[in-house]
Amino acid sequence: MNMAAQGIAIVQAFEQDVLAGLAAPQKTLPCKYLYDEVGSRLFEEICTLQDYYLTRTEADIFAREIQAMAEAIGPQVTLIEPGAGNCEKAEPLLRAMLSPAGYFPLDISPEILLAARQRIQRRTPELPIRPVVGDFTSHSVWRELPEIPGRKVVFFPGSTIGNFTPEQAHALLSLFAEQLRPGDGLLLAADLVKDSVVLERAYHDSSHVTEAFNKNLLRRINRELDGSFNLDAFAHRAFYHRLRRRVEMHLVSLESQAVEVCGRQFHFDEGETIHTENSHKYTLAALKELLRSTGFQPQQYWTDHQQHYAIYYAEAV
Ligand code: AVI
Repeated sequence: MNMAAQGIAIVQAFEQDVLAGLAAPQKTLPCKYLYDEVGSRLFEEICTLQDYYLTRTEADIFAREIQAMAEAIGPQVTLIEPGAGNCEKAEPLLRAMLSPAGYFPLDISPEILLAARQRIQRRTPELPIRPVVGDFTSHSVWRELPEIPGRKVVFFPGSTIGNFTPEQAHALLSLFAEQLRPGDGLLLAADLVKDSVVLERAYHDSSHVTEAFNKNLLRRINRELDGSFNLDAFAHRAFYHRLRRRVEMHLVSLESQAVEVCGRQFHFDEGETIHTENSHKYTLAALKELLRSTGFQPQQYWTDHQQHYAIYYAEAV
């Protein structure tokens, strides 16, 4: 598919998903749509916030343990990174790895991938880099990868796994496992279960950046799908659901109101919500079980002193 056709398909999918999501009994919008240009910028800002401990904690673990991770990965390995974005997390890992054989970043944004390739290529001209554009949850993207002769490791940082339901996470790791041969690897980062106060502060930060990030989805619908959302008539809500072990993000209607999207009307009761994101938290045992049940043998993990966050290395069996 060329880039223009790809663009049209993405807009059509957005329209379909929004109309279906707003018509559901519990109104819901897929969290991938939070990341338009403004949303991606707001997310980058979230990552720098004191309240949002995830990025900082992950960076600290990488800084301390990168050599040990590179050793676990082994020599002459091809690193594959689904949802690579600007590839900033892979760069230090590739530098620490012994004679990496190649790097395959996968992402839906061709512009970000190409800029990242140029940057990495300048610093490590000998490393073969092959960006692949597409949605890493779809089987078709993985079919675009050429046959890779040596060992491969899938690198999945950022706690992105948390934004998938347990069933989706199982399907995704199984999809990763299908791409691997026995002895290949997976380096997976996940946010851990912890005090709900810490969790809720991370998703309801005192600078209100997460609120802007959440509400930007309504602004995007207004702009791209001819929506009539009044952003002041919705509030940001984030809470930890202890049983489901996840932080849920919602937009709460502050009044009874009707909203139009693509010429269709949707009614909101006062207090009714649109569920916009889940961010699942794992125990170390649950993470291990997820790996085992999807075709991996957990080998080693690294965590911070508070056990807020973990990075697991597992081998495909
Ligand atoms: C991208 N993902 C791992 C973030 C998270 O923590 O679930 C997205 C995010 N949502 C609100 N703040 C950050």
